[in-house]
Amino acid sequence: MSDNAHDRGITLVTGVAGFIGFHVARRLMALGRPVVGVDNLSDYYEVSLKEARLRVLQEENGPGPFTFERMDLADRDAVTALFAAHAPRRVIHLAAQPGVRYSLKNPHAYAEANLVAFLNVLEGCRHGKVEHLTYASSSSVYGANTAMPFSVHDNVDHPLSLYAATKKANELMAHSYSHLFGLPTTGLRFFTVYGPWGRPDMAVYAFTRAIARGEPIRLFNHGQSLRDFTYIDDIVEGVVRVSDRAAAPNLEWSGARPDPASSFSPYRVYNIGNHTPVPVTELVALIEAELGRRAETILLDAEPGDVPATFADVDDLMRDVGFRPATPLAEGIRRFVAWFREYEGAPP
Ligand SMILES: NC(=O)c1ccc[n+]([C@@H]2O[C@H](COP(=O)([O-])OP(=O)(O)OC[C@H]3O[C@@H](n4cnc5c(N)ncnc54)[C@H](O)[C@@H]3O)[C@@H](O)[C@H]2O)c1
Repeated sequence: MSDNAHDRGITLVTGVAGFIGFHVARRLMALGRPVVGVDNLSDYYEVSLKEARLRVLQEENGPGPFTFERMDLADRDAVTALFAAHAPRRVIHLAAQPGVRYSLKNPHAYAEANLVAFLNVLEGCRHGKVEHLTYASSSSVYGANTAMPFSVHDNVDHPLSLYAATKKANELMAHSYSHLFGLPTTGLRFFTVYGPWGRPDMAVYAFTRAIARGEPIRLFNHGQSLRDFTYIDDIVEGVVRVSDRAAAPNLEWSGARPDPASSFSPYRVYNIGNHTPVPVTELVALIEAELGRRAETILLDAEPGDVPATFADVDDLMRDVGFRPATPLAEGIRRFVAWFREYEGAPP
């Protein structure tokens, strides 16, 4: 952990009403660190869940440590004013238009939220002399790569969806700012995150809700896809540790054999995943066991943009911040379903 003076600085958390942003902000404030949170409360999934997360942050912390600003990060002037008003020392940028499948339907939402907004955040960090920008990338950048586990030292030049392409673009944009302006940046490639207060558009929540209601669930790729499901507390631990350790130049980096995960500039990329791929059918079995109900399944072919497997190599994360995710899926699903029952008022 950083020294006390460092810890007194404000951390700007974008996407604070979102799943991961909510948990990161909550953890930072539990550590006594003030947070300015930004979100536009997009209606990609139910806004009531985002509002409920914000209520928790406000009730737990009050107006002192927690300031919320509702704004669209694609609005350049608003972002300039945000950085001028709060002068954040560190930025954890988690706001984005997520979702692989939706990027086939509404690609322009990704250009705005993931490219324009990212540039605005980079500019804010540059002019605000931010000490470290940590931002969300995604396991989806591995695209057509098949070498397992996925390594940050492999090239990722073959995205299979526009969502993945925007996340890879974020890494490239970050590198240019790390180089030109000496802005330390670290990209975190998250692997299928789940847990309490999770996202209703993702498998864990969507399956749980459907099974609890007696509705059928659709298993793409006949349920045979492997996913490296990663528990939210592990993601938060990794994000906070990484944010506290500003990216530094890799003095051994060579342009003759360029390592994609680091640079001669203060730039890093890490995987953060459970390094334990599990078939989707096993996820369904765990949810069935927790709910005490059988799922009705509809088996379908893989969808365009889907990848058959994800599996994180987390050696670099472990080496640099001394942590790797380890929550077993069964334990995480137990905690998720307990929260789901409470939040949705589902029958016990
Ligand atoms: N959850 C996962 O499994 C996963 C996996 C890989 C990467 N990621 C990335 O992690 C980050 C956080 O994901 P999440 O699961 O918490 O998603 P989320 O959708 O719950 O949170 C993102 C938040 O950003 C906000 N937002 C979107 N566009 C905005 C804009 N233009 N201005 C301001 N706010 C905006 C949304 O309203 C939302 O509350 C995202 O960058 C996502 O792409 C998530």
